[in-house]
Amino acid sequence: MSDKTFYITTPIYYVNGDPHMGHVYCTVSCDVLARFKRLDGFRTHFLTGTDEHGLKVYQSARDKDMSPQEVTDLHSQNFRDLQPLFNLSNDDFIRTTEDRHKKGAQALWSKLEEAGDIYLDSYAGWYAVRDEAYYNEDELYDDEKGVKRAHASGAEVKWVEEESYFFKLSEWQDRLLEFYEQHPDFIHPSSSKNEIISFVKGGLKDLSISRTTFDWGVPVPGNEKHVMYVWIDALANYMTALGYPEKTDLFNTFWPADIHMVGKEITRFHCVYWPAFLMSAGLSTPKAVFGHGWMTVEGEKMSKSVGNVITPQTLIDRYGLDPARFILLRIAPFGNDCDFSHETAVNLINAELANGLGNLAQRTLSMIIKNCDEQIGARDNLTLEDEALLSQAYQMLEGVRVEFDAVRLHKGMEIIWKVVSAANGYIDSQAPWALKKTDIARMKVVLSVLSEVIRCLGLIIQPIMPDSGGKILDQLKVPEDQRSFEYLSPNHALSENITIDPPQGVFPRLVEEDAA
Ligand code: MSP
Repeated sequence: MSDKTFYITTPIYYVNGDPHMGHVYCTVSCDVLARFKRLDGFRTHFLTGTDEHGLKVYQSARDKDMSPQEVTDLHSQNFRDLQPLFNLSNDDFIRTTEDRHKKGAQALWSKLEEAGDIYLDSYAGWYAVRDEAYYNEDELYDDEKGVKRAHASGAEVKWVEEESYFFKLSEWQDRLLEFYEQHPDFIHPSSSKNEIISFVKGGLKDLSISRTTFDWGVPVPGNEKHVMYVWIDALANYMTALGYPEKTDLFNTFWPADIHMVGKEITRFHCVYWPAFLMSAGLSTPKAVFGHGWMTVEGEKMSKSVGNVITPQTLIDRYGLDPARFILLRIAPFGNDCDFSHETAVNLINAELANGLGNLAQRTLSMIIKNCDEQIGARDNLTLEDEALLSQAYQMLEGVRVEFDAVRLHKGMEIIWKVVSAANGYIDSQAPWALKKTDIARMKVVLSVLSEVIRCLGLIIQPIMPDSGGKILDQLKVPEDQRSFEYLSPNHALSENITIDPPQGVFPRLVEEDAA
């Protein structure tokens, strides 16, 4: 068993509504990274789940005339159903209403209490249910109707006054600044990093961490009149899913997490509160938090009232599973805000999948079927062009590894599609269809070089498009146990004289109506 480990998490999703494309965007990006690491020899753990307590979920149940438990059971299942729909490889799915979680969240609370970082007082201030967040006066504005809202999100805030436990966050300012200094790779991207550091430098107030006006939450140990503030409860999921407070094998192997993938609006919770809680509890801190941007649709934020919500099922119905996974990551540089346009999606899928990779595999393999007795030929007397293309294919892994490690998923994909373009350029310049009439032996070499490059491409696209990568490798008769990245090298090149299967189109072209 490998001693290299990788633990990646999505945020846990609120269960006050159904999953949409924004949620899938985040989860698929984690799935791609998790699959990449598994194929690259890392023992990997990939966690997702649902955030089920708090006022927001409680109120949404009340609005639907359901009990909070009914509403959470229903919506949590809808998030869980994304696993087969998007072919997600998560190793676990945690719900914060599970006993294993509640027990762990309470244990974390007790640790903070033992450290002397919790005290009882009363809270008077502004609270936004939509964000489940407290705001200072200077973070608010009055809208045209005089409703007070938070600048950060536009969410309405209400005045709250109640008895509350507090976490002594104010005492963590210097230690947090020191922590960021010592861990320069903790916050990504750098724009979020600057924002977080200046927020902390601006001074931290103690944080209210319990509520008494409703009971839909994890009871505070020793004072069950209080439930924990939903964020302390929620953040604990990353450890409770590993068995915390028990020091299980899973916990010892995977904690601290390598990457918490989150949307940019919740980086503050992950980069300020979470390391402070962990340091206070004497636990190690995650290695990195990556705050990605938001996805809008045709220029507008997805919203039910605008009517532009793209459901996960719509994505699959329109494009098919693997093209849908591909397009989520390809539509814009990963991490930035990005706009989803159906027309751009169709154009990219046609250009890069159908005409790019699909056509390359189809052209090459059907020529082998027709002209080489279905057999991969020898690769001898290689020309400089042959060598150049092969070495570009073998070198691709190192480049993609660097980019994926830095969560520049789009850059990694660029490297892969450079090889696709180079191979399509090579097929055009070598013109094996012309060689058929003039130099059959050379034609066989060209097709064999191309098959080997297609094998490398089939291997490396597996994290992004697992089924399509698998189909390409099936056609080339690559055994199931030779599909990890250690096989992406000349030492494991396709054997000569293997007989391949007739190719089947891996990426169908989308027709114009699909762009409607
Ligand atoms: N429950 C908290 C997270 C707790 S993690 C310990 C939460 N849930 S959420 O359901 O509101 O959001 C979950 C994630 O989905 C966030 O990272 C958020 O940024 C992401 N997205 C929600 N809408 C989105 C888009 N339109 N685009 C991209 N991501 C978006 O916050």
